[in-house]
Amino acid sequence: MPEVTQTYRDLAAELGALLGGETDPVSNAANMAALLWHGLPDLNWVGFYFRQGAELVLGPFQGKPACVRIAIGQGVCGTAAARGTPVVVPDVHQFPGHIACDPQSRSELVVPLIEGGAVLGVLDLDSPLTARFDDADRAGCEQLIEVFLARCRHAAPSEAAGEAGGIDPESGCRLPLPRRADLDAEGQRIYDRLADPDGGTLRGLKGPGGIQLHSPELARHSRPVNHYLRYASGLGGRVRELAILATAREHDSQFEWAAHEPAALAEGISLDIIEAIRWRRPTTGLAKADAIVIDLAREMFAARHVCAPTYARALQQFGRRQLVDLVALMGNYAATAALLTAFAMQLDKRQPPPLPSLLFFRR
Ligand code: SME
Repeated sequence: MPEVTQTYRDLAAELGALLGGETDPVSNAANMAALLWHGLPDLNWVGFYFRQGAELVLGPFQGKPACVRIAIGQGVCGTAAARGTPVVVPDVHQFPGHIACDPQSRSELVVPLIEGGAVLGVLDLDSPLTARFDDADRAGCEQLIEVFLARCRHAAPSEAAGEAGGIDPESGCRLPLPRRADLDAEGQRIYDRLADPDGGTLRGLKGPGGIQLHSPELARHSRPVNHYLRYASGLGGRVRELAILATAREHDSQFEWAAHEPAALAEGISLDIIEAIRWRRPTTGLAKADAIVIDLAREMFAARHVCAPTYARALQQFGRRQLVDLVALMGNYAATAALLTAFAMQLDKRQPPPLPSLLFFRR
């Protein structure tokens, strides 16, 4: 393991000061690229590619205009992303598949940005000199990336809301618990179901059910729909909980995720699959039906477009009626996530936020 040299120790200190308390990943990447451009000799390009699905997409950089999209596995950047390890190339002409953005480049160093085992993107450095980069550069850049990622980590939204105050200690959100005495007979019936530990809701009054009961007519209409989608649509427990977890992930809904992760485990969904959803890892290698559910949620909520092959797979798997129900189930939990977000529903005191911030993974 090579020592991090003084140059890189100085750069790491400068980077920490430069980024300060800023968490915006694009701004921080732009400043980091500028710092390296001026701080390291013999570069003709330095910058970021951020991962979007199976591609790397150009981020902030210094140097000549560069190619925008690189498939994971292609070129030096895509190779480092696919392996999840840095790649040092002394002579780019000897690297099969090297993508020549700037014909002046002779050597290259690519270091992946890794968070929780997931590759979020890469830092790419090019030089007009042969063999410009060595192991000390690799180790130095890895340290700089650690500083960068640490700065970009957002405070969990529920923590931020807690700091801002306005949370009712009883309900755990911005609204008080609904009061039984304020409700009509139908509202009281719903209240009693929510208050009953065996009433069929995961969180009872201290969750979305309690929030909805502030609009009793809404609760009266929406609860049967939710019940149909969960239990009577024929989707089954496994598809249901996969759909809910994928929806919670795409909405960064810590509370929805925390409530449903145990339910997913109880349905026999393996930890490997739960981790793939949590970290938005590729679905390659998962069982066909599982991958379809997760891909559909990601495309609907993140890409905001369901591509034709995903739609075709989903239709073939579920048929028309069940596919409509599956999409409606995801929409139902997106609506729940909206309520939880707007009313700042808090996690239980001792529960650490289960969903990591994925920085550039999102849109
Ligand atoms: N040479 C890289 C492409 C990116 S540019 O160097 C900016 C590669 O082979 O992945």
